[in-house]
Amino acid sequence: MKPIKVGLLGLGTVGTGVVRIVEGHQEDLQNQAGSSIVIEKVLVQNKTKARAISVPQEKLTEDPWDIIRNPEIDVVVEVMGGIGNTRDYILEALSLGKHVVTANKDLMALHGPEILAKAREHGCDVLYEASVAGGIPILRTLVEGFSSDRITKIMGIVNGTTNYILTKMSQEGASYGDVLKEAQALGYAESDPTSDVEGLDAARKMTILATLGFRTHVSLDTVSTQGISSVTKEDILYAKRLGYELKLLGIAERQDDSISISVQPTMVKSTHPIASVNGVFNAVYVYGEAVGETMFYGAGAGELPTATSIVADLVAVVKNIKLGVGGKKNALTYNETRQKTDEE
Ligand code: NDP
Ligand code: HSE
Repeated sequence: MKPIKVGLLGLGTVGTGVVRIVEGHQEDLQNQAGSSIVIEKVLVQNKTKARAISVPQEKLTEDPWDIIRNPEIDVVVEVMGGIGNTRDYILEALSLGKHVVTANKDLMALHGPEILAKAREHGCDVLYEASVAGGIPILRTLVEGFSSDRITKIMGIVNGTTNYILTKMSQEGASYGDVLKEAQALGYAESDPTSDVEGLDAARKMTILATLGFRTHVSLDTVSTQGISSVTKEDILYAKRLGYELKLLGIAERQDDSISISVQPTMVKSTHPIASVNGVFNAVYVYGEAVGETMFYGAGAGELPTATSIVADLVAVVKNIKLGVGGKKNALTYNETRQKTDEE
């Protein structure tokens, strides 16, 4: 069967993981997807930069349109980050009939409705599992696993960088600035870590979780957000002495028609399962009226955990292409949107 050709936008932490998994698991991916997956072109800023992984020079490009307007490319995988130009590339790719997989929570939290509408218009899939909680398949779980229930609360640690910082400050007495540098070196932090430490990254992820979990569009503007940049070692030690751990917690709740979302440093009782989520790990607690309490745990950032979600989305897209249902099935959208799709 014809191989599915992928254009990869970005070869940093996550892009490198995507190449490793696509190459390393090729046979298994082919068995599952029903077609081989070939990374045809890779966009970078600088072709001559030393890389953690070797990619043939002829596959690298510094021109995004080599991928977006390339008729050979079936799927665009966006792991370059950013909002302005990236939005334009994704919208253009969709209008040319290409499916999109992205890890970009900034983009999906701000421009999700526009991007998903463009995808519907052109019969394309847009999947973004990696945008929230790295390797935890929480978006698909909210949309598919809880389709029979009414979720009233989603709570969690959804930023790996800040959890890594708070853990090291709590367990090793490390300094905020030193651990932030470590998190950057490990590839956990955003290119501008302000969005991690000021809680904006978590706010964007909570917006996506609430939109999918509560099945209604939730605007980022409504999230009350406070980060950890002013948290001191003393705050953490006092909390500990009182039997609490300090965690950057996102909480989304709905009561009747009203939804409230906040992200803030929170004292969590040491006996609560969320208190023992340490390092780069994330956890998402979901309360459904019928199911009651559930919790999902795993690496929230980093090369291979994040790439696992990206490549799983890629397999889903390839399966849809093979079945001829691209843009109609398995989309990470809420019911209102799906209903429109069904009516079209
Ligand atoms: P990196 O900074 O490590 O990599 C970004 C890559 O994109 C680099 O290869 C860079 O090229 C390329 N790039 C960036 N801007 C441009 C541009 N304007 N033109 C061409 N190429 C460009 O980022 P990450 O891999 O860490 O993150 C990528 C995305 O994934 C972001 O949206 C992030 O929020 C998201 N994400 C990251 C996670 C993580 O653990 N790191 C986890 C979940 C999501 P070059 O190499 O030449 O500089
Ligand atoms: N900077 C993000 C984090 C990457 O630390 O959680 C994963 O989205």
